Amino acid sequence: MCSIIGYYGDGSAAPILVRGLKRMEYRGYDSVGVATKDQQEILVKKGVGKVSDVNNMLHLDTLPGHIGIGHTRWATHGNVTDVNAHPHPSSSGKIAIVHNGIIENYSELKADLEKRGYQFKSQTDSEVIANLLQFNFDELLDIKKSMIKTTSQLKGHYAFVAMFESGTLAAAKYHEPLIIGIGKNGYFLSSDVLGFIEKTDDVIYLDNGEFVILDRLGLQIFNFDGNPVKHQVTKVSKEFADVYKGDYAHFTLKEISEQPDTIVRAGESSRDAVSNATEFIRHARNIYITGSGTSYNAALVAKYLWQKYAKIKTEPIISSELFFSPDAIEPNSILIAISQSGESADVLEAVNIAKKSNAKILSIVNILTSSLAQESALVMGMNCGPEIGVAATKSFTAQLSIIYKITEKLCDGCIKLDERKISDAVSRILADHTKIKEIAKELREIKDIYILGRAVHYPIASESALKLKELTYIHAEGIPGGELKHGPLALMDSSVYVIIINPNDHTYSDTLTSAREIKARGAKIIGISDKPSDVYDFWIEIPAIDDAFYPLIEIIPIQLLAYYCAVEKNTDPDYPRNLAKSVTVK
Ligand code: F6R
Repeated sequence: MCSIIGYYGDGSAAPILVRGLKRMEYRGYDSVGVATKDQQEILVKKGVGKVSDVNNMLHLDTLPGHIGIGHTRWATHGNVTDVNAHPHPSSSGKIAIVHNGIIENYSELKADLEKRGYQFKSQTDSEVIANLLQFNFDELLDIKKSMIKTTSQLKGHYAFVAMFESGTLAAAKYHEPLIIGIGKNGYFLSSDVLGFIEKTDDVIYLDNGEFVILDRLGLQIFNFDGNPVKHQVTKVSKEFADVYKGDYAHFTLKEISEQPDTIVRAGESSRDAVSNATEFIRHARNIYITGSGTSYNAALVAKYLWQKYAKIKTEPIISSELFFSPDAIEPNSILIAISQSGESADVLEAVNIAKKSNAKILSIVNILTSSLAQESALVMGMNCGPEIGVAATKSFTAQLSIIYKITEKLCDGCIKLDERKISDAVSRILADHTKIKEIAKELREIKDIYILGRAVHYPIASESALKLKELTYIHAEGIPGGELKHGPLALMDSSVYVIIINPNDHTYSDTLTSAREIKARGAKIIGISDKPSDVYDFWIEIPAIDDAFYPLIEIIPIQLLAYYCAVEKNTDPDYPRNLAKSVTVK
């Protein structure tokens, strides 16, 4: 869950690496480092903090040289310290590495290398790659052979780039992303095309079990047995170049604001794949749907819609839970995996487990080159462009848009998603932020907030709670309206705020009754509705639309509220503490 980058070319490496790291900071951001190859030796600078802060302090981008590697870290093994930041040099300092993933057998390897006199400075699993590679290179005196040996000894999931004192870069990919960028004046190795998109859109996507050597001979690719591998150079979509905040203060606000477009794009562009998916769903004996975090909340919406409108039963499974009940997947089933990144380790593991029961994998995914897309028999692309803000916003509504399209097909048009109408309704919500900003000020000091919704609005309440937790660090909980009197009512007093998701549909009057019960205990009520009520201390108006589609629009004001509350509290909405955009470790 870190980002790695390498550069080999004619340009000045350090500034290129720092810019690339800045763009990939969404993947992990507790510390950062860069190493370059100077005339004689490998130079390393690294420290704790975000890329720009560490760069301001240590001037990472002034390191000399035309070859280098860089890293942003999201700690897994070892605390967030300067020493644990990457790059990690080998004990002789003749090799330095950056790594993303987990080396499962690092303690055995480390113990063995320590016996042989290799020293370790950090608490990370990653440092073992540097010393193991150094050991093998010292024995074999050949970079290719030492990569074959090293990759055969490492267990776990990893992508790493190693820089040798000679100036050669070597990199390996095993179940973590590693993409080669081919520029006019140099090569890039990166976790994400965003690492080099400014410089080139010509890329090679490596397969698992392959490694790369970059030296004076150019680029060579091999499989882990050492046999040469040929790959097509492909062009990345131009829209990936659109990763600037533009006039927006934060990516999160930009991405929330893009939803009038992205909802339309997701619905329209997934049309053919959706038709095929519908056939799979109709003929499957059992349908499971999985995801993590926001993507799981989208799965809950799907369960509700398919049951209500198409009379089709679906079982949502939290991806990380499937590991503990692998028998849950019956034969001849389909598993629909939802993931923005397509790289969440929990989702990929769920897919793996389902495949063992011969389940067909369908996916709803944003990154079409991701591992999940590769594992799927059918891919429905979300087409919402890169989502940089760590909190999922536009990807959630893109997922819903596709789920609505599937519902429409499954129920033979009993509901019809008019993307343009929804887009207009979202634009109307986004047109004026004044009231939401005022409410965000009210929430600045609070400790707890609850969000209530019934039926399909309950998954939206859960998603709202997730957004508020991540962005504001306020304790937030989504509650199904009817459950209030079974416990949560005990929490209600004058210090509490409750958001009521209350569009004017069949849930309206029951939810309003719940709001009154809460208000009677002194809590303040924020109503999200197309209909005013005296029970609301604050009313956030949403446009009236066809009942079926409220979930697509009612989440928008809450995304905005969470965003402005983060701004009020001076937390960074784009990079919430302790989180990373794609959780590629278990
Ligand atoms: C919440 C959020 C996370 C992700 C989760 C799954 O705002 O961003 O909960 O939804 O980590 O990520 P993907 O969809 O990439 O599998």
